[in-house]
Amino acid sequence: MTASRKRYENKIVLVTGGATGIGKITSAAFAREGASVVFTDLSAEHGPAFEAQLREQGWQARFVQSDVTDPAQSEGLIADIAQRHGRLDVAVNNAGGILAPDELGTGVHDTLEEGWNKNIALNLSGVFLGMKYQIRQMLKQGGGAIVNTGSIAGLIVDVDFTSLSYSTAKAGMIHMSKWAAVMYAKNHIRVNVVAPAAVATEATKAFLSDEMKSFLAGQSPMQRMSEPEEIANATLWLCSDEAYGVTGVTLPVDGGIAAK
Ligand SMILES: NC(=O)c1ccc[n+]([C@@H]2O[C@H](COP(=O)([O-])OP(=O)(O)OC[C@H]3O[C@@H](n4cnc5c(N)ncnc54)[C@H](O)[C@@H]3O)[C@@H](O)[C@H]2O)c1
Repeated sequence: MTASRKRYENKIVLVTGGATGIGKITSAAFAREGASVVFTDLSAEHGPAFEAQLREQGWQARFVQSDVTDPAQSEGLIADIAQRHGRLDVAVNNAGGILAPDELGTGVHDTLEEGWNKNIALNLSGVFLGMKYQIRQMLKQGGGAIVNTGSIAGLIVDVDFTSLSYSTAKAGMIHMSKWAAVMYAKNHIRVNVVAPAAVATEATKAFLSDEMKSFLAGQSPMQRMSEPEEIANATLWLCSDEAYGVTGVTLPVDGGIAAK
C-alpha cells in the first residue's frame, strides 16, 4: 500500500499574521500537510522561533516580517515569493484583530476617528492590499485559492461585545471577498472567508478574565469558545482541491452563534 499523499505537497502557501494565535496554528497545519509555508507578522518577536520549531519537525516554513497595511511591503512580499518559489498557490489573509477598547467606542456617536481609521486600515485595507498583489500573481500563473479570516462580528450586530469599526471592517472585507470571488472565478481563483466567534488562542487564554471566558462561551449554542485548530481545519478545507466548487462563501466557525 502506498503512503497517502499530503494535501498540500508542492504547494506554496502564504499566511499573514502567522506568528501567533489562529495564524500560527493555521501555518503549522499547512506545513504538516506538506506545504511550503511563508508566514508573516508585523512583529519579529515570535516568528523566528516558530520558524525554527516548524523546521525541526522536517517541515518547510519561512518567516517574513511584513506589515499588511503597508502597500510597498505587501507588493514586495509577493514579488519575493514569486522570485523564490515561482508561484503562490494559497493565501490566507489572517492578520487582524480588535484594537484596544479605549480607541474604539461602540456607537457612531462616540467612535474616535483614530480608532476607526486604524481598524479599517488593518481589518479591511490590509486584506485589500494583500489580495491585490496575491491576485495579480494568481492571474499570471492561472489560478489559486484565498481565504480571508473574518469574524461573526462582520455577519451579525452585537453592540454589547464588539466595536462599530471592527464589525464594519469585517463586514466590508466579507463583501470585498465576494466581489473578488465573482470577478475571478473565470480565472480559477477562489476566494472564501472563515468567520470565527471567540477563539481560545494562547493570548485569549492568558489575558481574558474567567468571567469574560464564561461570558463568551455562554454566547455559543455549544457553550464553549472555539479552538484555533477548528478555524485552521476550515481554512485548509476551503483552500484545498476538495472545495473546488466553493467560492464567495463565508463559513462561520462559531459553535452556532450566527444561526441564532
Ligand atoms: N481570537 C478570536 O477570538 C477571533 C475571533 C474572530 C475573528 N478573529 C480574527 O482572526 C484573526 C487572527 O486573530 P488572533 O486572535 O489569532 O489574533 P492574534 O493577535 O493572536 O494574531 C494576529 C497576528 O497578526 C499580527 N498583526 C497585527 N497587525 C499586523 C499587521 N499590520 N501586519 C502583519 N501582521 C499583523 C499580530 O502581530 C499577531 O501575531 C484576525 O483577523 C481576527 O480579527 C479572531
